[in-house]
Amino acid sequence: MIISASTDYRAAAKRRLPSFLFHYIDGGSYSEHTLKRNVEDLSGIALRQRVLNDMTELDLTTELFDETLSMPVALSPVGLTGMYARRGEVLAARAAANLGVPFTMSTVSVCPIEEVAPAISRPMWFQLYVLKDRGFMRNALERAKAAGVTTLVFTVDMPVPGARYRDAHSGMSGPYAAPRRILQAMTHPHWALNVGLLGKPHDLGNISAYRGNPTGLEDYIGWLGDNFDPSICWKDLEWIREFWDGPMVIKGILDPDDARDARSFGADGVIVSNHGGRQLDGALSTCRALPAIADAVKGDMKILVDSGIRTGLDVLRMLALGADCTMLGRAYIYALAADGEAGVTNLLKLIENEMRVAMVLTGARTIADASSELLVQS
Ligand code: FNR
Repeated sequence: MIISASTDYRAAAKRRLPSFLFHYIDGGSYSEHTLKRNVEDLSGIALRQRVLNDMTELDLTTELFDETLSMPVALSPVGLTGMYARRGEVLAARAAANLGVPFTMSTVSVCPIEEVAPAISRPMWFQLYVLKDRGFMRNALERAKAAGVTTLVFTVDMPVPGARYRDAHSGMSGPYAAPRRILQAMTHPHWALNVGLLGKPHDLGNISAYRGNPTGLEDYIGWLGDNFDPSICWKDLEWIREFWDGPMVIKGILDPDDARDARSFGADGVIVSNHGGRQLDGALSTCRALPAIADAVKGDMKILVDSGIRTGLDVLRMLALGADCTMLGRAYIYALAADGEAGVTNLLKLIENEMRVAMVLTGARTIADASSELLVQS
């Protein structure tokens, strides 16, 4: 078993959430092979210990797309964040901003972007899915621009949703989903009181802005599921570029050829990601996919990576494998579900501290020092 703060937050999240929501976060696609490999492959990468180098001065700051990050970490977009804690998007965004790292707001958010952006002290990032309804996409981009979003994260690994069998078991999806979900939610006093059901109902801000007046989450998930667009192709980047002139990163790249194409179609960066093992089961873990992508495009564009990162050691490992910056998904979502804004703040502080300790013990004084020199064959 891997011992980390995120393991403890995961256990607390499991206690605090109705099980359909916990398993929606925790699960992956099909037999969850890639989900497991993301964590196991990464934690198995050996770091090279170095000693007696006077490591009193460390600098974790990172420059990315004209922003200064306190450390090479950002929060990945996670759908329905406002279902895991009341106003979850605002809480996670505030924790990230206060610690000097970017928060990425998902297309599939509960709080409206107009509520999240003014609540935080630094500009945030926004994630866009390709949907058949191009009017939805254009409207989302216009709202993101008006809200002062700096970087657009364009997710391309969801032309069809992956089959997540855990969701069918738990009642998140399938023919009897709605009544089972309501039943489970009602028997979870924490969630029912503090997030949904018995408290002030969610206004589903992003949703109602686009869909007229839906009756709730059910309509939205159904509409979204029908709207993923398998026709998505590189040409769509040109269309997006007409509406977005700021930095754009393509999320869901696992292959060096796709990274090169992303560069030639004008992307400023890629996020090496397998969607946290939620899409193509059997796809490479990201720590194994990353080195070839770094060989192909390092220096020409920014390389970000997510999937399986749980600790500060994992952050350092990904940098050593060629990433410029890392992103957290479930790690911060478990912390949010367990303890709200304080949970995300604490998790980020722990990750920073773990990085500092690991940098001292590997002899890396700056983020630029975190190269393949830090790795050793095990
Ligand atoms: C996601 N992810 C995701 N990605 C995205 O681009 N838009 C989205 O709305 C979502 N929604 C979402 C929901 C949940 C519950 C999870 C767990 C993940 C993928 C996410 O951005 C990220 O790629 C993974 O979470 C990274 O893997 P780890 O760190 O969770 O292992």
